[in-house]
Amino acid sequence: MLKTAPVTNGYEEDFATFLAPIKEGKRQDMYVFEPPFEGPQAGKTGYNGKQVIMLTSNNYLGLSTHPEVIQAMKDALDVYGSGTCGARLHNGTTLLHKKLEERVAEYLRTEDAVVVGTGYMTNLAAITSLASDEKTVIITDQLNHMSIVDGIKMSNGQVRIFEHNNMEKLEYILTKSDSFKKKLIVVDGVYSMDGDLAKLDKIVELAEKYDASIMVDEAHSLGFFGATGRGVSEHFNVENKVHIKMATFSKTAAGVGGCIASDKNTCDYIKHNAHQYIFSASMPPSNIAGVIKALELIEKETWRKEKLWHNTFRFRRGLLELGYDIQNSLSPVIPIHIGDDLTTMKMTKMLLAEGVYIATAIFPAVPMNKARFRATITSSLSDEEIDIALDKLEKCGKEFGII
Ligand SMILES: Cc1ncc(COP(=O)(O)O)c(C=O)c1O
Repeated sequence: MLKTAPVTNGYEEDFATFLAPIKEGKRQDMYVFEPPFEGPQAGKTGYNGKQVIMLTSNNYLGLSTHPEVIQAMKDALDVYGSGTCGARLHNGTTLLHKKLEERVAEYLRTEDAVVVGTGYMTNLAAITSLASDEKTVIITDQLNHMSIVDGIKMSNGQVRIFEHNNMEKLEYILTKSDSFKKKLIVVDGVYSMDGDLAKLDKIVELAEKYDASIMVDEAHSLGFFGATGRGVSEHFNVENKVHIKMATFSKTAAGVGGCIASDKNTCDYIKHNAHQYIFSASMPPSNIAGVIKALELIEKETWRKEKLWHNTFRFRRGLLELGYDIQNSLSPVIPIHIGDDLTTMKMTKMLLAEGVYIATAIFPAVPMNKARFRATITSSLSDEEIDIALDKLEKCGKEFGII
């Protein structure tokens, strides 16, 4: 086999330090990342030759295996081929890309929308465009998703971070931000590692008082938060007061990609500014077709949303009865606090051996010594699967002295 020359030239120390715990974890058979699944994201899937209950999947409404989604994707493959082989502004736009933007704007009840290759890139695109100079201050929650953090790093705006969900701190920063021409408050609707919600009702009040714009990341709320599933903005009844809604298609919409829904000027501005939009190939049409179908099914098959909440409450109640600490989760994202990394990884291994998959979240995804399981509940789970998973969590939690 032809091999590349190993990278050395000064990297030896960095690699050795960084990779030491990873190598040690692998040596002890404690490495829990990237389990290669053998089947789709569903209530159960194949792993290592057997079926495991999926307690971590962002396929919230179970649409990734929906026959109509799969058929729509196949049909688009026949018409458009496998990929666009280009960026949006040149050859990478199809009728489906335009249709999806119209659908997103209609669904999120905004004037316009723009879709970008991934959710991660969407946050970079929006923030780097809207904070392209030092006259902008980006006011960001301490626990915002890494794509927001990275977008801020890549922008030319000034940054002010407020303690998680602390509205006094947010107001204090706003009172000190008079010198900026543009103030952009950015929050996750649902916090992706903690499962709690941004206090959007209060944030809207403050934004109005201090003349700031609000951007909300609805990645973990699209399709199931609010009376009709429009997200946390709908949940707080402030849809028309949030200026920029961001969402990803990789979770409820069972595809890949992201969107910004806002007024026409904002969307056009992002399209013609954002490097992530201008200099990257567009989403494959088959993926777009699947997402369009998923949005239709989210509206049509409302039982999925009800089932998701039923499952969420069942699992949450079970965890609390067992004595687990689930922090302030109010959503299907349920953190289960364990503490140190090694115990969390050992427990993950034990659960996998017992037929339950639950993801481990350790630093830097969460703060140091706040290692946890990160459950994300879907509508695909049956009551029986949830109860079996809770039994296994009871056994495992007792064995490790966590409960
Ligand atoms: C809150 C939040 N925003 C953005 C993203 C990025 O989305 P994607 O994975 O679709 O790129 C994620 C993904 O985990 C997320 O949780």
